[in-house]
Amino acid sequence: MKPYISVVVKPTLFCNTDCKHCYHTPEERVPGRMSHETLERLIRMVSEEYESAWFIWHGGEPLTMPMSFFKDAIELQEEHFGKGSFRYGNTVQTNGLQLNRRFMAYCRSKAINVGVSYEGPFNNVLREGDVSKALSALSSKENKYSVSATICRETALHQREIYEHFRGDGTNVSFSPVIPAGCARCNGTVPDPDEYIRGSIEVFDEWLHDSEHDVPLIPHYLYILNYLGDPMPADCAHTSCLTKWLCVNPNGDIYPCAKACPEEFLMGNINTVGSIDEAFRSEGFRRILLGSVKRREKCASCPIFSYCNGGCSMDAYHECGLEENGGDSCRIFREVFSHVSSEIQYILDNQPDMSGYNRFVRDAIVGKLINPGTVSL
Ligand SMILES: C[S@@+](CC[C@H](N)C(=O)[O-])C[C@H]1O[C@@H](n2cnc3c(N)ncnc32)[C@H](O)[C@@H]1O
Ligand code: SF4
Ligand code: SF4
Repeated sequence: MKPYISVVVKPTLFCNTDCKHCYHTPEERVPGRMSHETLERLIRMVSEEYESAWFIWHGGEPLTMPMSFFKDAIELQEEHFGKGSFRYGNTVQTNGLQLNRRFMAYCRSKAINVGVSYEGPFNNVLREGDVSKALSALSSKENKYSVSATICRETALHQREIYEHFRGDGTNVSFSPVIPAGCARCNGTVPDPDEYIRGSIEVFDEWLHDSEHDVPLIPHYLYILNYLGDPMPADCAHTSCLTKWLCVNPNGDIYPCAKACPEEFLMGNINTVGSIDEAFRSEGFRRILLGSVKRREKCASCPIFSYCNGGCSMDAYHECGLEENGGDSCRIFREVFSHVSSEIQYILDNQPDMSGYNRFVRDAIVGKLINPGTVSL
């Protein structure tokens, strides 16, 4: 058995709203749902080939599916992985418009993480509808979720304000830029890379010296762990995700990534492949792998290659071509990671009083000092 895989499941591509930047076009966001048979086959095959798996329920909007779908999925996981076996975990990624107390209570009872796509005070820049209404109706026990903020041209320089909006409630927040795919290909929502870099460094500097709030800042915290020698699979763009991630569409089509992945990388269909391993031996997977290897060869002289691993293949594909580096995501990672790592190296070299630093940074650094390894740029 292989050790671990992350599986993004899109139970439907239908959505109850119409975000300006969505990499799924309105023509793709049509009704239609994953059948019980497809769901069962997927969960069974993953359980037979992997020691453990993390399922991310995505879409379209997953909460346009009835709650019975999620109950069915969890029952299938309990049956195939073993109830209480710690071999599986779940995250539901939602726009939050249909979140309610009943669903949150169910998630709590089954230890399902909930991620809400939400930019706080800037939510209406990209999105329609008032998610704050649904969130404020949750009780204090039920309002445990993390936030994914997708940053566009208008919000690039407001990342610090978004972090400050959420940190008081202890809500974890992650930031990522709009990529030029689907609706965002040509509507001006992609951020200016220099502004994104400035905004990203500003929010990091605020968080680094924020000793009062106990929340991680993503992706910066993952960059710290990566620099200290402990890269996390959640940082899929910089941990050679190919072979470690899968995305399954409502009809069972398998892709290597959840972001607007074109048909040329189709890896087969869950209802017809004999195993997950067979999907990874498909022509579609070979194509994305070969293109990514060519891009990585061009990265070989980059001083941070060992931390970046050539970045996200789908970002590169949409920015400048699968085989090319140098697009916005490459520039953003180079600048932001270099800033983060130089701050961490300063702490390692000078061992200053850590009481004014964020708790997550303190813990990561203390772990490193107790168990040192080589850190060099
Ligand atoms: C495609 S949605 C699907 C799940 C759910 N409907 C939601 O919005 O959370 C998942 C995430 O992708 C992000 N996203 C959509 N289009 C994007 C783009 N062009 N670039 C970067 N992120 C994008 C959304 O903001 C959202 O956080
Ligand atoms: S980002 Fe999510 S909520 Fe927004 S249109 Fe796309 S699928 Fe729907
Ligand atoms: S930062 Fe850019 S050039 Fe350097 S390894 Fe990453 S993708 Fe390649």
